[in-house]
Amino acid sequence: MKKKILCMGSINIDLVMYASKLPRPGETVVTDNFQTFPGGKGGNQAVAASVLGGDVKYFTKLGSDEFSSQLSAAQREKGVFVEDILYVEGETAGIAMIMVDESAQNLILFTPGANQLLTPEDVRNSASVFDGCDILEITMEILPETVYEAIRIAKSKNMTVILDPAPAPKNGIPKEIACMVDYIKPNETEAEILSGVPVIDMDSAIKALKILQDKGFAVPIISLGEKGAVTVSEGSVYLEEPLSVKSVDTTAAGDIFLGAFTAALSSEKAFGECLEYAKTAAALSTTKKGAQASIPTRDEVEAYLNRRDHSE
Ligand code: RIB
Repeated sequence: MKKKILCMGSINIDLVMYASKLPRPGETVVTDNFQTFPGGKGGNQAVAASVLGGDVKYFTKLGSDEFSSQLSAAQREKGVFVEDILYVEGETAGIAMIMVDESAQNLILFTPGANQLLTPEDVRNSASVFDGCDILEITMEILPETVYEAIRIAKSKNMTVILDPAPAPKNGIPKEIACMVDYIKPNETEAEILSGVPVIDMDSAIKALKILQDKGFAVPIISLGEKGAVTVSEGSVYLEEPLSVKSVDTTAAGDIFLGAFTAALSSEKAFGECLEYAKTAAALSTTKKGAQASIPTRDEVEAYLNRRDHSE
């Protein structure tokens, strides 16, 4: 039976400019390509998990501005249950200013707005939101204490906890919390902050994975951008080779990886299959612009996987 997913974390409006190159400090680069998209790491993961087959509820705090209404509507439209979201009068939604260059790389500046007003107390007062859910998928553009309280509540209800430590807290994650996390997916920078090992190649990534396990995280998965992903589970190291696609925008690829992974896990797919599904969804998303706007459909992911199976 399909497990129910509760997603938490930031939800933002993304103001995106596409240009031939990213500006250096003091430089102005001109572009006429400006677009807005619904985004935010938590919002992206919720939509990805829903579109890719998950039964998803989203809990967050939004403001009373036009962006806030657009963001909850975008979630609802993609099948996410949004009725538990809290709204703060007079506050704005989170806003991300994103610049993307011709090689699909990006720079992001983020102001959290209502995201940072979700407190541990709010989570305790809304603990009934967790009822009936089996998996918590949570990311960190909200207060770390709020994330930790949500993880404690999820564990007290025997839920599986999936954490995207983005951005990673500079002073690390307390061991008490690490021991409650079933899956954690840092990128190279976040893995370095959490493990103390600069992740520059496969050997250093494997070293960082082992340190993360010693710190209490059961299954760490390090995403390596265009180099794929690497993880260790039950003593075995799994390397997920990257797919070869023509990328135009890598924004949210990590979020879509985790949303797809969570959707696959909720359908009780085996760990290796979840990774394969996640990697494919993330790679396909980079071929389109925007965060939530680039999430591939289930049919697109499955068609890619079937084509690949038949050509092997
Ligand atoms: O991971 C991409 C996301 O980071 C964007 O959608 C932006 O909102 C920022 O949160």
